[in-house]
Amino acid sequence: MPTIRKVAIFGVAGNFGTPITAALVKAGFEVTIVTRVESASIFPPGLPVIRTEYTVEKLTTALAGQDAVVCAVGPAGISAQVAMIDAAEAVGVKRFIVDDFGWGPDFRTLPEFQPIGVQRRVAWGHAKELADANPQFTWTGVSIGNPIDWALKRFPLMGFDVKQRSAIIYDGGIEDFTGTTLDGIGQAIVGVLNHANETKNRFVKARSIQTCQSQLLDAFQRGTGQAWKVDQSSVKDLLESGRKKHQAGISGWVLELMVYQLYTPGEARCIVASKEDSDAELLGIKEETPDDIVKKVLKSVTNR
Ligand SMILES: NC(=O)c1ccc[n+]([C@@H]2O[C@H](COP(=O)([O-])OP(=O)(O)OC[C@H]3O[C@@H](n4cnc5c(N)ncnc54)[C@H](OP(=O)(O)O)[C@@H]3O)[C@@H](O)[C@H]2O)c1
Repeated sequence: MPTIRKVAIFGVAGNFGTPITAALVKAGFEVTIVTRVESASIFPPGLPVIRTEYTVEKLTTALAGQDAVVCAVGPAGISAQVAMIDAAEAVGVKRFIVDDFGWGPDFRTLPEFQPIGVQRRVAWGHAKELADANPQFTWTGVSIGNPIDWALKRFPLMGFDVKQRSAIIYDGGIEDFTGTTLDGIGQAIVGVLNHANETKNRFVKARSIQTCQSQLLDAFQRGTGQAWKVDQSSVKDLLESGRKKHQAGISGWVLELMVYQLYTPGEARCIVASKEDSDAELLGIKEETPDDIVKKVLKSVTNR
């Protein structure tokens, strides 16, 4: 596999596009930003920006000369991915990193999330078909599990209200899950491109940590030097409430059902990458402790 140097990225200013772009630049890749004509996103300075319509014809011009493409658009842009993949293959791009940044192809998701997964699978299947027919074109998906430092800060329903120093512990707080930090997500993309042979035509499994709520609570209490107010709850209530909202078409169901999935007791549903089958070492992702994660969350909350 030839060396990858020139990388185009969609979704640069997004939650995950931001750390991915920073990591690619830091690692010395030549990064080009590709964005929608109507985008109001603000981009990091010093990088070339191509504004284009997301048609195969226009994208073919936009992606010419690139070695690799990273697609990190948000859910509203996923349907444009097939055109991105067609254009990339047509102009000789060697690697297309498809938009997953979730739980991977084998995830046992709740039925409510299946329609969201369908569009992603269309793009993944399309990349695979093109790669089967053209060995010069390859793809990779990056499964990250829970984007842990980002999610803990953003979603108190995950059990930790950092500002209030209070926690909701679901079902004893002992269900393990795996997560990848924003730094780990950026490093995962760098690792894929630096190990293009080992990562071609498959999903890689990233992880920075395997942990559970009770370990995180201990770390939050150590990190803040104070005892937190702790309430006990059960994710069964979130399942019931999330399903009611989903049926009634009321917002809020996504987060409730995601937290249910994360902590479903006894299912190990959200262990996306066990230590044995994780690609973290290959990709150069550092294993972190609950204290490391908490430190990042507390720092980002106090810096706001
Ligand atoms: N594992 C998890 O729990 C988890 C959590 C969050 C996200 N994710 C996944 O991670 C991926 C990236 O999500 P994100 O949260 O980083 O995305 P995001 O911040 O919501 O959006 C990223 C970028 O997508 C582009 N975009 C937005 N609407 C678009 C549209 N209609 N058409 C084309 N492009 C559009 C924009 O880029 P421009 O303005 O430059 O065009 C935007 O900056 C998604 O697949 C998402 O589902 C996973």
